[in-house]
Amino acid sequence: MTTPAEQAILDAHYMARALELARKGHYTTHPNPRVGCVVVRDGQIVGEGWHERAGEPHAEVHALRAAGERARGATAYVTLEPCSHHGRTPPCADALVNAGVARVVAAMQDPNPEVAGRGLLRLEQAGIATESGVLEGEARKLNPGFLKRMEHGLPFVRVKLAMSLDGRTAMESGESQWITGPAARSAVQRLRAQASVVLTGADTVLADNARLTVRADELGLDAGQTALAMSRPPLRVLVDGRLRVPLDAPFFKAGPALVATCVAVEEQYANGPECLIVPGYDGQVDLRQLLVELAQRGVNEVLVEAGPRLAGAFAQLGLVDEFQIFIAGKFLGSSARPLLDWPLAQMKDAPELKITEIRAVGDDWRVTAIPSPAASV
Ligand SMILES: NC(=O)c1ccc[n+]([C@@H]2O[C@H](COP(=O)([O-])OP(=O)(O)OC[C@H]3O[C@@H](n4cnc5c(N)ncnc54)[C@H](OP(=O)(O)O)[C@@H]3O)[C@@H](O)[C@H]2O)c1
Repeated sequence: MTTPAEQAILDAHYMARALELARKGHYTTHPNPRVGCVVVRDGQIVGEGWHERAGEPHAEVHALRAAGERARGATAYVTLEPCSHHGRTPPCADALVNAGVARVVAAMQDPNPEVAGRGLLRLEQAGIATESGVLEGEARKLNPGFLKRMEHGLPFVRVKLAMSLDGRTAMESGESQWITGPAARSAVQRLRAQASVVLTGADTVLADNARLTVRADELGLDAGQTALAMSRPPLRVLVDGRLRVPLDAPFFKAGPALVATCVAVEEQYANGPECLIVPGYDGQVDLRQLLVELAQRGVNEVLVEAGPRLAGAFAQLGLVDEFQIFIAGKFLGSSARPLLDWPLAQMKDAPELKITEIRAVGDDWRVTAIPSPAASV
């Protein structure tokens, strides 16, 4: 007979495996969440699964298929409450009931208003024992974008900036390639690949001829992960308040893009990329409204790769959830451009950030920092 303390250890062990499986969907599941599932019977894993992409079977279905008849009387560990609604696929709660599992352990409830506890309720009504909250903190970290979109109607915004040791991001002329080395640039490629949207501004595109695509040979992933990442490239969004970027710019030639602007779309753009007119202030795009529109389109994670003006505007508006700052061991000098255009007069006005990680990336350093209080609170 297993004691409750022993059961808690076993539950955490199997949930950790389910989380590991969920991470395989790092580059592909959006707009859906990353989810993993493990089916355990008599102390043996009899089925495993993870969700790969929207429209395809959920993690539970893969795991139950692998388990077959062995799912009867088993425990299913799933990193997110099983769904109870008919989306593009049938409800997973029903699949678990039909498979005859005895117990379902979820890491967390699904905040999607279409589920929100109803998946677990459906299981309980069918006589299945349920539990929720096992390794919930880890499960939340898997899906910052999906959770923020469900809970706040906004995507998770990650701002990436590369700077010198003296905090500069481009020369006075606008030249900024390259501040950091190949390892840091490869890490940025992976940040792009995991995002639903990579967003930049007109001046970055004009100054750098930036395309902001994901480049397979720079991802630094194995062949399987590279194929997954390349199968679901992020949408590239250009914030161009006055439509200054010409249609023959490399950015537009590199594939589909969305332009957010606050002026009426000119005729020359009529056969060009999709344009989203976002009501502006002082001739500038309303960035919060743009994020709301992106969330409504199912965008979970936005990577902002812009210069000091646009990145500074996101920061000043309290729209940033996380900064990824890559620091190179060089000085760009006092005439070079700052990290953020954000004039502050007094120390008491200085925004505080919590540095959650610092790690070496090749010859550079990568700092992860979250605004305090966090944007999503
Ligand atoms: N080190 C790095 O990590 C890094 C990364 C990217 C870029 N850069 C460098 O940064 C420089 C460009 O930086 P930047 O910030 O001036 O250009 P940016 O990133 O292109 O951002 C400014 C652009 O955003 C548009 N915009 C629209 N709504 C806005 C709003 N609400 N607030 C702010 N901007 C808004 C502006 O529109 P309007 O035209 O209507 O004003 C302008 O076109 C380049 O030199 C580039 O090389 C460095």
